Amino acid sequence: MDALAGYLREYESADLLRFITCGSVDDGKSTLIGRLLYDTRLPDDQRAALEADSKRHGTQGEGIDYALLLDGLAAEREQGITIDVAYRFFGTARRRFIVADCPGHEQYTRNMATGASTAQLAVVLVDARKGLLTQTRRHSYIASLLGVRHVLLAVNKMDMVGYDRDVFRRIAGEYEALARSLGFAHVASIPISALKGDNVTVRSPAMPWHEGGSLLEYLEGVELEPPADTDAFRMPVQWVCRPDQDFRGFAGTVVAGTVRPGDEVVVLPSARRSRIARIVTAEGDLPAAPAGSAVVLTLSDEVDASRGDVIAAAANPPDVADQFAAHVLCLGDEALLPGRSYWLRIGARVVSAQVTEIKHKVDVNTQEALAARHLETNEVGYCNLYLDEAVPFERYCDNRDLGAFILMDRQTNATVAAGTLDFALRRAHNLHWQHMDVDKAARAALKQQKPRCLWFTGISGAGKSAIANLLEKRLVSMGHHTYLLDGDNIRHGLSKDLGFADEDRVENIRRVAEVAKLMVDAGLIVMVAFISPFRADRRMARELFADGEFMEIFVDTPLEVAEQRDAKGLYAKARAGELRNFTGIDSPYEAPFNAELTLSTVGATVGELVDRVLKALD
Ligand code: ADX
Repeated sequence: MDALAGYLREYESADLLRFITCGSVDDGKSTLIGRLLYDTRLPDDQRAALEADSKRHGTQGEGIDYALLLDGLAAEREQGITIDVAYRFFGTARRRFIVADCPGHEQYTRNMATGASTAQLAVVLVDARKGLLTQTRRHSYIASLLGVRHVLLAVNKMDMVGYDRDVFRRIAGEYEALARSLGFAHVASIPISALKGDNVTVRSPAMPWHEGGSLLEYLEGVELEPPADTDAFRMPVQWVCRPDQDFRGFAGTVVAGTVRPGDEVVVLPSARRSRIARIVTAEGDLPAAPAGSAVVLTLSDEVDASRGDVIAAAANPPDVADQFAAHVLCLGDEALLPGRSYWLRIGARVVSAQVTEIKHKVDVNTQEALAARHLETNEVGYCNLYLDEAVPFERYCDNRDLGAFILMDRQTNATVAAGTLDFALRRAHNLHWQHMDVDKAARAALKQQKPRCLWFTGISGAGKSAIANLLEKRLVSMGHHTYLLDGDNIRHGLSKDLGFADEDRVENIRRVAEVAKLMVDAGLIVMVAFISPFRADRRMARELFADGEFMEIFVDTPLEVAEQRDAKGLYAKARAGELRNFTGIDSPYEAPFNAELTLSTVGATVGELVDRVLKALD
C-alpha cells in the first residue's frame, strides 16, 4: 500500500481514473494489463528485464510475453491471509490510472470485491470464442454491488475469430442487456486482441468497422460522475488533534462536498451545531477544501466531536440509525452467523453489531436469491443488521465512504465480512423504553439477595446440570429465590425450533441470555446450564449484565471422561454417525480463557464442586 500512497501523492492533482479488470487469466487479462503498462509507464529498467524474461520463459517466441509482468503476483496471492489486490499504476498525457488486478476465480470473490470497492470503472474481459460466461455475470454483479457505475466490455481474442464484426456485435448486445439488468449507469463495448495489440493502445487496422477508439483512448476519455462537489459536505473525524489547551481540531478527509470557513455544520450523532472556524493544513489555512482533501477543521464553539463522528453540512446532514438492510459479503475463513455479536466499523467508528436476519443469500453467478442460515466465505447475503448504537451513515449508492462497513471478530479483530448499507430500517423507531417504578434493586431487596447469573458451560455430560441442580437445592434451602435454565429443558419449549448447527446454537444462547437477564432483573439468582460452546456468544451473554452480576463457571471434564459416562447414549450415537454436529466430536467446544470459576470434575464429588461455587459466591 506504500506504493499506492506514494503514487496518489505524486499525482494528487492530476485527473485520476481507478478501474478494475475482471476476467480470468484465460481471457487474456494479464496480457491486456501487461500491454497497457508496457505501452505507457514502464520504466526502462523494468522494460529491459521484461524483454529478457520474455525471450527466456515466454510463450510467444521472440515476442514479448506481457503476461509475465503479472504472474509474479501469483505467489503473493497464495498466502491468502490478507485480501490482496495488486494495484498497478500507469499514465498518459491525459490521465493517470490505477488498475486493481484481482484473480477471477469464485474463491477470489472477496479479492475482487476489495478491488471493486474503490474502482470507478470495471473492464470486463471475455473471450470472443466463448462469449459471456458464468464468471462474466459474477464479476459484473460484484462490481455493481460495490458501486461501480461504468463498465467496459472488452471482447478479447478477436484475432481468433477472424476479426468478425458479427461475433463482436452479438456478444456486446448480450452483455448490454446483462449490464442494464445489473443497474450500471454506463456501458460500452470494444473488440480487442490483447496479444496482437489490436485496439488496446492504438486503433486496429484489422477492425475498421469498429467506430470507437482503442481501449486506452476510451479510458482516457470516459467521463466520470460529476465531481462530488455538488454534494453536501461530510467529513468523518479520524482523530481529534489537541496539541495544547488552546487548540482543538478535528482531522479527517472530506468525503463529499466542499467545506469553507463560516459554513454551518452539525456533528453527528450528537447533533450539536457549530460553524467552521478554520481549515488547517501543513501548508497553512485553506479558504476551501473539496472532497478528497485531508484537513484539520476547527469549530467556532466548544462543540465536542470524537473519533468516528461525522461533521456535515447543517442544512443537509446524513441520517443517523441503528438498524439497516445491507448486502454483506463474507470475507473471512469462518462463517458469518446471525445473532453473533461482531465489531462493525463504519468510517472511523466501531460499534457492536449483529446480523439479526439473513433475508436471503445471492448466488453470485446467477443473482438468484437462495435461502440461507449463515454465510460462508465469498458468499453474499441480503441481511438485516442491528447496531448497539446509532451511527451517521448514507446509503452506499449515495456515498461509498459513509455507506460501507466491515464486520470484525470481537476476539481476534479479524475481518469477517464487508457490506454496503442499503437503507435504514425504522422498525425500532416507534419503540421507546417504558419506565417501571419497581426496579431490579426493589425486587432484589424484597428477596434479600444479590441477583446473579451463574453461567455453566461445558461439553455434554460434563456435569453442568447435576452441579446446577444441587446448587439450586442448596440455595433454596438457604432461603434464596432461584431459577435453573437447563439446555435440554429449554430446547423442549422456547428453543424447540432450533437444532445444533452453529447458527442454531448462537440463537439458542442469545435467547437464554435474554431470558436470564430478565430473571436477574426480577431479582433472582439464575443458573444457566448450557453447553454454550462458543466464546463469542458467552461473551455476548456476559455483556448483557452489570459488573459482578455474571459469573462464568467452566465445568471442565475431559472428552474421554464424558464419553465414557455417556449417560444419555449420545456420544455412542455421534461416534456411530447417527448424530451430527455433536459437541466435541464434529462440532467444536471453545473452553473459556477467563472464567470466574473452573470446576475440574474428575475426582471431585458434585457436593464438593457446589461448595466451591457457594464459596465463590460469598
Ligand atoms: S448449546 O450448544 O446450544 O448450548 P444445549 O445446552 O442447548 O446446547 O443443548 C445440549 C443438549 O442437547 C445436550 O445436553 C444433549 O443432551 C442434547 N444434544 C442433542 N444433540 C446434540 C448435539 N448435536 N450436540 C450437543 N448436544 C446435543
